[in-house]
Amino acid sequence: MLEEPGIRTAVQRRARSSGGLRAGDRLLEVGCGGGLLLRDALAAGASATGLDQGEEMVSLAPERAPAAAVVLGSAERLAFPDASFTAIAMSVVFIFLPDPLAALRACRRALAPGGRIAVYTTSPRLRGTPAAPEPLASRGYFCDNDELATLASEAGFRDVVVADDNGGRLLTANA
Ligand SMILES: C[S@@+](CC[C@H](N)C(=O)[O-])C[C@H]1O[C@@H](n2cnc3c(N)ncnc32)[C@H](O)[C@@H]1O
Repeated sequence: MLEEPGIRTAVQRRARSSGGLRAGDRLLEVGCGGGLLLRDALAAGASATGLDQGEEMVSLAPERAPAAAVVLGSAERLAFPDASFTAIAMSVVFIFLPDPLAALRACRRALAPGGRIAVYTTSPRLRGTPAAPEPLASRGYFCDNDELATLASEAGFRDVVVADDNGGRLLTANA
């Protein structure tokens, strides 16, 4: 999935545009992978922090986004003070999370009042396709639109919107 250029392009485009990043924003990307979105955020004039549970990714991301702070960590336990960020992006990470509600709650806590979150995740329809092959297809967390919206509301977000995007799901909401 990571190597599929069409999916990567769609994810980056959607996460970037829906986050509406602008100069002065403080972005946290949860599950930043190789740092492509961090690079784009810096180019938009935002400050960028990446967090990933993979040591390899934490080494790789700063090569693409040298001005970003990149830390090792877990989506469910974001080790940042409350209200640290104005925007949070999570792109193709949700399906890997053992406790997605805990991750959304952690994001809500780390966002400043009025901060925005954008979560791009894989639709259940793509389970078992090249976009979500085995073993991910069996083990991953695939949720429908209503479930995703309910999780975000339970985590304390408002103005929750879930939109379909070429088989993906884009959740946007405000803190
Ligand atoms: C498919 S990659 C997506 C990377 C990047 N967001 C992108 O769109 O290119 C998923 C990333 O999420 C990270 N990840 C998975 N579960 C995580 C968790 N619980 N906490 C932090 N990072 C996690 C993985 O290490 C991996 O780098």
